Amino acid sequence: MKIQNNISLKSFNTFGIDVTAKYFCEITSVDELQELISSEIARNEKKLVLGGGSNILFTKDFEGLIIKNNIRGIEVLEENDDILLVKSGSGEVWHNLVLWSISKNLGGIENLSLIPGYVGAGPIQNIGAYGVEIKNVFENLEATHIDIGEIRQFNFNDCKFDYRDSVFKNELKSQYIITSVTLRLNKHPLFNTSYGAIETELEKMGIRKLSVKTISDAVIRIRKSKLPDPAVIGNAGSFFKNPEVTKEKFSQLQSSYDKIAAYNLQNGNVKLAAGWLIEQCGWKGKVVGNTGSHKDQALVLVNYGNATGEEIFSLATDIQGSVKEKFGVEIEKEVNIA
Ligand code: EPU
Repeated sequence: MKIQNNISLKSFNTFGIDVTAKYFCEITSVDELQELISSEIARNEKKLVLGGGSNILFTKDFEGLIIKNNIRGIEVLEENDDILLVKSGSGEVWHNLVLWSISKNLGGIENLSLIPGYVGAGPIQNIGAYGVEIKNVFENLEATHIDIGEIRQFNFNDCKFDYRDSVFKNELKSQYIITSVTLRLNKHPLFNTSYGAIETELEKMGIRKLSVKTISDAVIRIRKSKLPDPAVIGNAGSFFKNPEVTKEKFSQLQSSYDKIAAYNLQNGNVKLAAGWLIEQCGWKGKVVGNTGSHKDQALVLVNYGNATGEEIFSLATDIQGSVKEKFGVEIEKEVNIA
């Protein structure tokens, strides 16, 4: 374990924002993490944990300690005729875990193919795509308290999962470092193709027999066609969450905008597609200096080259303002701001 000084974070965030961290340390095990936590620098400085850096926007230099999580390893804990419990280090690339499960023909996370980021971020924001969320396969996780080093196990209920949300974004925000995540994968997968785009893609591909592999391939094709590759154009996926409105508000909006993209929630409210709202405000594909809203998915803000975090933040604020003005709806940021 080595603490470094004045390190550029450009290659550690998928927006590619060039800010500097006062201190930076990579950890590869829980023991190294414990050692780091008891160091003087960790005790005195503010701390931020970075995984894949795919859901963060740096708007200024980080005047503290960045803990870069590199805790790897995928291990089978338990197995019977129906399920397999797999424990993954939180510093594994999420898609590598998906590929591992597909290679073993295990079901549960194939719809979550190609989501950027590390395994540890999965439960924090309850990652989801194409009708599936990590909470659907979640068994438990282990985490270490960032100040006192206490090691704790969190079960399903402890995590308080919700849409792109968990206890780790609320009561316990920035308090625990997730070190491993255990998922329950299925040996007799039940495929979820409820999300329209998957059915359409499978048809285009001429697939008749569903498997975890074919679904994953379809999801990868959809994502690649719509979402910019951060290795080519800096971005952090959806910048905003899809907002929830009441039925009354929805009816009112629908009477003016009959094509409004939305779906009903179990709680009686309606979720609106933020991408649609942003597009209607004229932002889709618009380039503003070094930034913009992506041409194929308005919800994704991009860095065309040398954008600063402040520039992207300011674009986001303008977009929020115009959606509020046109539709009377607040869209919340999904990406963390530092
Ligand atoms: N839409 C538009 N214009 C746009 C974008 C979308 O009209 O520019 C419309 C689409 O036509 C569709 C609806 O909005 O009717 C939904 O679009 P899409 O299927 O692309 O999904 P989304 O709601 O925009 C969410 C997640 C994505 C996830 C997809 C697929 C959030 C904030 N985003 O996007 O997650 O991949 O569903 O499940 O929930 C991420 O979190 O980083 C992310 C990419």
